Amino acid sequence: SSLAERGELKNKRVFIRADLNVPFNDKGEITEDTRIRASIPGIKLALDGGAAVMVNSHLGRPTEGEAVRAEDSLALVAEHLAMLLGQEVKLVQDWVDGVDIAPGQVVVLENCRVNVGEKSNCDELSQKMALLCDVYVNDAFGTAHRAQASTHGIAKYAPVACAGPLLEAELTALSVALENPKRPLVAIVGGSKVSTKLSVLETLADKVDQLIVGGGIANTFMLAEGMAIGKSLAEPAQIEQSVSVIQKMRSRGADVPIPEDVVVGKEFSADTPATTKAANEVAEDDMIFDIGPKTAATLAGILNNAGTIVWNGPVGVFEFDAFAGGTEAISKAIAESDAFSIAGGGDTLAAIAKFGVADKISYISTGGGAFLEFLEGKKLPSLEILERRYED
Ligand code: 3PG
Repeated sequence: SSLAERGELKNKRVFIRADLNVPFNDKGEITEDTRIRASIPGIKLALDGGAAVMVNSHLGRPTEGEAVRAEDSLALVAEHLAMLLGQEVKLVQDWVDGVDIAPGQVVVLENCRVNVGEKSNCDELSQKMALLCDVYVNDAFGTAHRAQASTHGIAKYAPVACAGPLLEAELTALSVALENPKRPLVAIVGGSKVSTKLSVLETLADKVDQLIVGGGIANTFMLAEGMAIGKSLAEPAQIEQSVSVIQKMRSRGADVPIPEDVVVGKEFSADTPATTKAANEVAEDDMIFDIGPKTAATLAGILNNAGTIVWNGPVGVFEFDAFAGGTEAISKAIAESDAFSIAGGGDTLAAIAKFGVADKISYISTGGGAFLEFLEGKKLPSLEILERRYED
């Protein structure tokens, strides 16, 4: 932002690394465009500053060195950007050795992950990419946890390397939520596996006043509390770790609410009959697919009193309407709460969209893995390299 304010982008070639890795449906349509919309302010800032703008991203995980398959191409992303910007946006293939572009133009550089050396953060590739630009802008919070040529290596060699407005906004929001939060600080961590979120849970257990768990994670916590969960998704191998998270929280006087009631079905399908039960009445052939209404009301009360809320992961199978009640109640409680709320992760964004609460969440992060790694307290490599450049 400050480069633009100082007029230092005029006639400059600006390489913006965005995270435009958006979901597509079977018909090849973009189903959720938050990340594309979030990249617009950075692109506009560069355009308004008089720059020639190259926007790059990865999409999915294609094989390096192979021709770009339709499903790996940023072609539709470029079209969508053109629509949002109201100007032509060309897609450039084979861009590593040079890009033909003039000030005022925007191009999308095809999926960087087909370049050999992108994922290994190859120096030679990074140097070539740096030669394309006068200014490198990292505006890809969603990929901040990856040390790759377009997120890390290029930042070492570009004449100028800096953070874009989205990256700055993400870091500000996360710092507000985690570094000096208004209390009580409440975290909601849902999703299917404890194992993928264990370090997040362990880190949060030291910080938050209340830790709400959902989905398979809540089922594993129920096992850890000695409760029967029938055939529900859980990870018995993670019971010990779950016990230690619960104990750590309780020894600090912090709260880990365990569901009092649940909604169960007999098989994983949208039309399996849904039954609400007390949490201690789950039968051997039941599968827990959602929290029950009493639990939802208790959690809504907690969220209503919160000073700060951090949300990652749904508390039920909200894709199936019969099991969406818990996640809907959580979404609405966050929306109605006066707390500063921050949410991130693909499933969480889908729930926010489904329940129409996007406008009422204080900050919606574009990060999935990066959001989790930040919550874990890990150093994100693409930020570290920018900090090093700022120090030089
Ligand atoms: C994401 O979707 O979390 C980011 O775009 C990173 O994608 P990756 O896990 O394939 O690096």
